[in-house]
Amino acid sequence: MEAPEAAAAAAVDGDDGKRQKGSWYAVGERAVLVPYLREHVPRYHEWMQDPALLEATASEPLSLDQEFEVHRSWTLDPLKHTFIVLDKELIQGEFVVGNPHTEAMVGDVNIYMNDPDDMQLAEIEIMIAEQKSRGKGLGQEVILMMMAFAVEKYRIHTFRAKISDSNTASLKLFRKLGFKDASYSAAFKEVTLEAPAAELPLASPLTIGSW
Ligand SMILES: CC(C)(COP(=O)(O)OP(=O)(O)OC[C@H]1O[C@@H](n2cnc3c(N)ncnc32)[C@H](O)[C@@H]1OP(=O)(O)O)[C@@H](O)C(=O)NCCC(=O)NCCS
Repeated sequence: MEAPEAAAAAAVDGDDGKRQKGSWYAVGERAVLVPYLREHVPRYHEWMQDPALLEATASEPLSLDQEFEVHRSWTLDPLKHTFIVLDKELIQGEFVVGNPHTEAMVGDVNIYMNDPDDMQLAEIEIMIAEQKSRGKGLGQEVILMMMAFAVEKYRIHTFRAKISDSNTASLKLFRKLGFKDASYSAAFKEVTLEAPAAELPLASPLTIGSW
């Protein structure tokens, strides 16, 4: 029998098993999701110097070299899929497939198939790092796009989010979308929320293409 990791890796490769991981992009109403490329790393690294963002995402500060190394490991990890979020209003000219459009990068979204008992369950994380792009519906749209992509490409049936109990904005966002509290860790002061894909108002049909 095929190992769950191998099955997930095959799913990540795409329908025909030939496409490269990380080669997808998706176009929404307000946001475009593009692969996390090396060109995005310096700005991403600047974001992750902000104590508030480090706390909200439960991350540790890294050097730029370490950030490049993390980027490389994410790129190679078949169980993790990361997109950089572009704010359409900030794209200079038209969106061009293959252009990293660093001028418009405002955050990231990722899924991680990290439950060894269920490789079709994905943990989802979202960050709209740029203050100027918050509060205009990008976070909500991006989560729905990411989940629609994950259902279509990796056949994910359940999504999970782990959110600090002090992160009111994020808790409100996920609960608004239909996520229900599944457990609470007093040690980490963290709420785990879950939602079956079938019960979510996913962005569909999703405009996607390969890079
Ligand atoms: C949480 C976050 C992703 C929200 O992104 P956003 O683009 O500003 O959110 P949206 O404009 O799409 O808002 C959607 C919903 O989220 C909730 N929300 C967003 N910001 C909020 C805030 N400051 N206070 C309370 N609720 C908020 C609301 O329910 C809102 O819906 P409504 O406008 O109908 O009330 C963003 O603030 C962020 O990235 N924060 C830092 C990183 C983080 O906390 N990541 C989550 C870790 S799991």
